Amino acid sequence: RLDVIETFHGILFPGHLHTQDSLQLALKFEFQDTDILIVSYPKSGTTWMQEIVTLITNRGDPHVSQTVPNWARAPWLEQHYCAAVLEASSIKPRVITTHLPYHLLGPALQDSKAKIIYVSRNPKDVVVSFYHFHKMANFLPDPGSFPEFLHQFLEGTLHFGSWFDHVKGWTTATMNNLLHITYEEMSMDLHGAIKRISSFLQCPLEEGKVNDCVKHGSFNSMKDNKMVNYTLIAEEIMDHSKGSFMRQGTVGDWKNMFTEEQDQYLESVFKSKMQDCTLEFVWE
Ligand code: PPS
Repeated sequence: RLDVIETFHGILFPGHLHTQDSLQLALKFEFQDTDILIVSYPKSGTTWMQEIVTLITNRGDPHVSQTVPNWARAPWLEQHYCAAVLEASSIKPRVITTHLPYHLLGPALQDSKAKIIYVSRNPKDVVVSFYHFHKMANFLPDPGSFPEFLHQFLEGTLHFGSWFDHVKGWTTATMNNLLHITYEEMSMDLHGAIKRISSFLQCPLEEGKVNDCVKHGSFNSMKDNKMVNYTLIAEEIMDHSKGSFMRQGTVGDWKNMFTEEQDQYLESVFKSKMQDCTLEFVWE
């Protein structure tokens, strides 16, 4: 099913992980008040947040993060194996991940007290990271040239839909139980970000435990952790000869890819689509 594409509410999803049923079920999911939901547009720091949340809920102890793959401890709600993973797992609180946009998942969260962490990243680094990921992920189409790919990203026609709709939808949602954090904030001050997340999760940590989370949640630790670096995934699904999932882990890598013209193109689309949005992104 690697080349199968599921179209759901006008958005494309890779068919080896998503089915119409699994997508439909996600919209009707019954959240528990103790659930922690990590929400992101792809390549925005999803895996990083999965690791940080695992470390925080384990008080800095890396045992779970080093022995259980991320998809088994923080499964994607919309992927077909999610229900089975949640049923089999005894890990509490449940940590669930999703790339679904707010306009689709919002209704299921309406009266829920589940804690939601929305992680976003500046769109220039997102599109570059996504481009490289398309080259190695055989369940995504060949990305073609970067200018073509950038155009599709800005048009919102790539898999998982529009970055603009995703970010606007989740960050303008009126929810008390939602924490918005950016990749850039984590990159600039991981220690501070971990304290903010742990306090939001009502999981206070002593200084030494925060330091443990910083250590195990750093790019270099995660790059070597096969439970999160996707090297456990078969070569025909993710071709590690074409790149690595833990690729750069920096802010501003877009500058190595974008031409001046492409930068202006993104800036102009950004301005027109985000004009009613007060968010400011750090680009470098
Ligand atoms: S996915 O496919 O949606 O789950 O991808 P996602 O995890 O959201 O994003 C992958 C990018 O996040 C980078 N990453 C990190 N950066 C800094 N520190 C840590 N610890 C970290 N972990 C993952 C990863 O390298 C991808 O970004 P790029 O720019 O491609 O390196």
